[in-house]
Amino acid sequence: MITIAFFDTKPYDRPHFDERAAMMGFSITYYESKLNEKTASLAQGFDVVCAFVNDSITEAVIDTLYDGGVRLIAMRCAGYNNIDFKAAFGKIHIVRVPAYSPHAVAEHAMALLLSAVRHIHKSYARTREFNFSLNGLVGFDLRGKTVGVVGTGKIGRVFCSICKGFGMRVLAYDPYPAPDLDVEYCSFEQLAKESDVISLHCPLTEESLHLINRESIREMKDGVVIINTSRGALIDSQALLEGIRSKKIGSAALDVYEEEAELFYEDQSTTILSDDVLMLLISMPNVLVTSHQAFLTEEALSNIAETTMRSIDEFGRGDVMEHEICYRCDSCHKSEGKRCF
Ligand code: NAI
Repeated sequence: MITIAFFDTKPYDRPHFDERAAMMGFSITYYESKLNEKTASLAQGFDVVCAFVNDSITEAVIDTLYDGGVRLIAMRCAGYNNIDFKAAFGKIHIVRVPAYSPHAVAEHAMALLLSAVRHIHKSYARTREFNFSLNGLVGFDLRGKTVGVVGTGKIGRVFCSICKGFGMRVLAYDPYPAPDLDVEYCSFEQLAKESDVISLHCPLTEESLHLINRESIREMKDGVVIINTSRGALIDSQALLEGIRSKKIGSAALDVYEEEAELFYEDQSTTILSDDVLMLLISMPNVLVTSHQAFLTEEALSNIAETTMRSIDEFGRGDVMEHEICYRCDSCHKSEGKRCF
């Protein structure tokens, strides 16, 4: 029987994984702690480790896992910037879940946009206190407005079609435009100038780091609405705060934040936060923050469990693993239809 040590477990992870473990005959031991150098020894004697975005999979962690018998790390997420791939190569295989529900993220982006422009977060708080005043809650119609979509991959293209359904004009910027997508592609500069709403759906890379910064904010329309469900560091948070304070930015809705790693996913309500920028952003009436929850739907959780457990099954059978990755996938054995090493 394949044994799996499951780190950083949250209550919403278990039902979908338990269901599949029972069907496939795998044994899962759930740990609430994150995987790091202090906790890696908990995986001693397991075949597989299942990890998540904020686990820290350093060379020391990999060595401890390998010495303890682990031969597969199954990332139950798409991102993998928290793994030392070079240290793992030749020792421990790594799989991930490249896509689980673009609809979950795109729909959350629209939920944020609607909440921001119609002040739903404010009205919810008001009516709970029986304050039925409408003062300060004037919004605007989305129909006829221009939305600028940055990145038209799996999530961005769903968001484009949702916006079209609302009767919006859709501008898009992507270094690799999709020929089949019915949107107006343009430069990022033009998108910044013409959009009433800007929504980010590109990955974080050297080129996209702080794409939204003082200079690009200066070029934007007055009252622009900025939505970020992608990666926090696409936005220079300090510049965003200044844009909010100067009233250049009409509102911002963020599911991700530059310095979220130590904060998001956990209850920090009894802690004094040391991040002044985040505290100030959250205190603004026209800023809405969710805690990296855009992926969190039953469908996405089910797909994550399905893909992860299928990869573990392929591993157990000695098969090629469809979603295996390594640091040299352009030249590893995968191109020959084998495992990476
Ligand atoms: P994808 O890989 O299908 O699409 C990304 C698109 O961005 C591609 O078309 C690519 O050409 C484009 N792109 C790359 N660099 C760019 C740049 N500098 N400027 C503009 N476009 C650029 O990725 P997918 O699945 O659509 O995911 C998009 C992002 O959403 C991910 O990178 C991730 O950061 C984020 N995400 C957030 C989640 C959440 O829960 N908040 C969950 C899943 C993903």
